[in-house]
Amino acid sequence: MANSPPKILVFDSGVGGISILQKVQQQLPWCEYIYASDNRAFPYGTKDESELVARVDLVLKVLTEKINPDIVIIACNTASTVALPKIRSHFQKPVVGVVPAIKPAAQISSSKVIGLLATPGTIDRPYTQWLIDDFAPTCQVIKAGSSRLVEIAEEKIRGKAPDLEELRNIIAPLFTTPELDTVVLACTHFPLLGEELASVTPRAIQWVDSGDAIARRVASLISTAPADAAHPEGFDYFLTANAGVTANLVSGLKNFGAREIRSLEI
Ligand code: DGL
Repeated sequence: MANSPPKILVFDSGVGGISILQKVQQQLPWCEYIYASDNRAFPYGTKDESELVARVDLVLKVLTEKINPDIVIIACNTASTVALPKIRSHFQKPVVGVVPAIKPAAQISSSKVIGLLATPGTIDRPYTQWLIDDFAPTCQVIKAGSSRLVEIAEEKIRGKAPDLEELRNIIAPLFTTPELDTVVLACTHFPLLGEELASVTPRAIQWVDSGDAIARRVASLISTAPADAAHPEGFDYFLTANAGVTANLVSGLKNFGAREIRSLEI
């Protein structure tokens, strides 16, 4: 009989972390995936730091006790840039954090003018400034913080098509500098709007997100697949509150591969 595959918990405030889950699943299709979204405390991007750290800590304590995963991925830039040390202090197995992909963006930008599109929380974090100072010291970094873009991604998964004019206005501050050639999608919700965002830029640019790097990092923590490994389809989905779980959300999540959708009141 085959050994049970590594169990990977992917966590975000909402549906955004699915953009990370998809990349990890492509790389490691034989692992078992559980996705959890803290819909009760959504959105994270406008929360005060200490409130956010306490919330993420509480939710992950409950989830890790219930699920007993081998690896936790905090698929949320807003949470990882402030809560990683606390989570790592009480969960003994690997915790992989998703943080803004500033380093690869600085490497591929020819003009060395890059944009950072994130939640207001991530934009303001000392951790984000540290990434810029360390990995993009010679770049001009133009920042745009938007919580509305997070909501638009949530609406899209519930079946509402994004308003392209609204997207154009949200990203307009990035395009006031003609040299900008690369934009970091520093919120896991934003790759879910990748096609729409690309369709409203005034010129073609390069987009960078953290998905591939996270998939490589997780793969480096896991031994290779046993020869008899099964390839389970999809993932189980937990929400932290029943409220707001509409038929539209359920069908959107199923389209992404969610099997069981359960709420765990936290
Ligand atoms: N998906 C989260 C991130 O990567 C943020 C969403 C929110 O504001 O709740 O930052």
